[in-house]
Amino acid sequence: MLTTETISDIIAKAIASIKYPEAPFGLYAPIEYTLESGGKRLRPQLTLSVCSALGADVSRAIDAALGIEIFHNFTLLHDDVMDSADIRRGRLTVHKRWNDNTAILSGDAMLTMAVQYIARTPSDVMPQAMELFNRTAMEVYEGQQYDMDFERSNNVTVPQYIEMIRLKTSVLLGCACRMGAIVACATDDVAQAFYDYGVNLGLAFQLKDDWLDTFGDPLVFGKQIGGDIINAKKTWLLINALSECRDELLDILAEDLEPEERISQVTAVYNRLNLSERCNKLIAEYSERAIMAIDAIELSSDAKDYFVSLAKKSVERTH
Ligand code: IPE
Ligand code: IPE
Ligand code: MG
Ligand code: MG
Ligand code: MG
Repeated sequence: MLTTETISDIIAKAIASIKYPEAPFGLYAPIEYTLESGGKRLRPQLTLSVCSALGADVSRAIDAALGIEIFHNFTLLHDDVMDSADIRRGRLTVHKRWNDNTAILSGDAMLTMAVQYIARTPSDVMPQAMELFNRTAMEVYEGQQYDMDFERSNNVTVPQYIEMIRLKTSVLLGCACRMGAIVACATDDVAQAFYDYGVNLGLAFQLKDDWLDTFGDPLVFGKQIGGDIINAKKTWLLINALSECRDELLDILAEDLEPEERISQVTAVYNRLNLSERCNKLIAEYSERAIMAIDAIELSSDAKDYFVSLAKKSVERTH
């Protein structure tokens, strides 16, 4: 299997070599701004890693990997409008740097770019790749709708939350893994095992994202802290706090508080209920499930080590 460094290098070069038309500048500048602002590049890393772990040439998977990363970045442009988020990757979000209309239209163009890249997948696997991509994209939108619906409900259950994050986040990590398997012409069983790895990794990943939104360091996380509390997002933390200290929490949410004060009062309840540690335990469980999902697949020891350590890192990550 290629090393992580080699794969990161391939992705960085491929993204840097994307050509943007010069005009209209207002459409393409925000796309370039977004794609060159980095991020962890986790999804293309997964696609190329699975492809390489299965013994195939990663050059077959680069277009699909780029398509998935561009799709992910498109969802962020729209998500930051929906969440009124000002900072991403330590920089102003597109709707803040420009405006909402720019985030909508440049986002639309990125979605089309993503489809164009998926369509360039080698023709023997292109129909499967496109079908997976389109199905996943619809699921992401469904998840984002539930995420918004849940802002207005105080009766969201943990299973409903898990299903919402499975849709908005996890299926794309599953898709990234399965795409690598499809391009490598793997059997359905192998593709499914990698999909299950990605989905469980994604559940751990979004739980940690929610944890970081309260307990992270904004300078390292690259995003503002407390946005989920301000938006009354039904994270695992808030759902459990609502179930264990319902009246106190409903009072805090109903009060007319300054944002900082609301964040600090809700966080104090989380701390009293030891929710930080309890959430990290659940994250570790999903990370274990990811590792179990690929247990039966025959892989070289360096490939196995890579996927195991990636799953373990999702528990400890700080950004
Ligand atoms: C952010 O994803 C959106 C979530 C699903 C939590 P990432 O944390 O992968 O964002 P970047 O691409 O590394 O910035
Ligand atoms: C994002 O969830 C999921 C998608 C973008 C589809 P969040 O709203 O928690 O992601 P961040 O925290 O803004 O990156
Ligand atoms: Mg958001
Ligand atoms: Mg969101
Ligand atoms: Mg978040």
